[in-house]
Amino acid sequence: MSGRVRVRPGVPDAALRVLSEAGLAFDVGPLEVAGADALLCLLSDRIDAAFLAGAPQLRIVANMAVGTDNIDLAAAASLGIPVSNTPDVLTDATADLSFALLLAAARRLAWADRYVRGGGFVGWNPELGIGLDVTGRTLGIVGAGRIGRAVAERARGFRMQVLLHSRALGPPLAELLARSDFVSLHVPLTAETRHLIGAAEFARMKKTAVLVNTARGPIVDETALVHALREGQIAAAGLDVFEHEPSLAPGLRDLPQVVLAPHIGSATVTTRARMAKVAAQNIVAALRGEPIPNRIA
Ligand code: GLV
Repeated sequence: MSGRVRVRPGVPDAALRVLSEAGLAFDVGPLEVAGADALLCLLSDRIDAAFLAGAPQLRIVANMAVGTDNIDLAAAASLGIPVSNTPDVLTDATADLSFALLLAAARRLAWADRYVRGGGFVGWNPELGIGLDVTGRTLGIVGAGRIGRAVAERARGFRMQVLLHSRALGPPLAELLARSDFVSLHVPLTAETRHLIGAAEFARMKKTAVLVNTARGPIVDETALVHALREGQIAAAGLDVFEHEPSLAPGLRDLPQVVLAPHIGSATVTTRARMAKVAAQNIVAALRGEPIPNRIA
């Protein structure tokens, strides 16, 4: 099979092995696709209408991510360029990180780590590091897809009451927000979900509530989040994603009740290798003219 693939830097070798074994030539380099038949890109690559219009020869854009909000799917469809993602293989890793952030925010783990490193721990103190209970509390999961359901599975071990909300099932969002001690977001970023959680939603939440976001930053109005945390409308947050990544909304980094992570939901050795492999397999299928396993547009 012939074909040339542009691969973005940072894609694990597992992808390159799949491409080589299929007899495809590839080069790792910038977001330029002149002469390329396929692109293996990252979620930080903006594949907009102008980019796609300049690359009509592409036979696939394979995103190494489950989310595809970085790609203009309508433009790709109108040019007949298939787009694929990497679902399933990252479900557990992302659900694990969601739970890690939930626990860390509830039990003030980032604060505790800073405290000990800073030399603050000079003796046990019954008033030190008081956080929030997790076991037996109510977890509201917004989005009932694979990752949301995997988070629900983990919550069972903590004997949590789970409220699962999606467009098709579960309590209305307003009710979930009012009843939940923890709210974890697991919807894709679309026009409908942008700023799904903003000032009005924070006003409905419990003052003791914790927000967890491992989905996409713009689902939350981050300025409103900073305000809600400052005013004590909610208690804490665990965030792996940000509205204007990699920037943070003014004031967010100064809030000690927030645990921050640099978009590492799928960042385990095995998961990233699987994602790379799946993305490359989608490319191989496309260039062979076979059905693309994870085609989304
Ligand atoms: C990560 O954010 C992904 O969409 O895979």
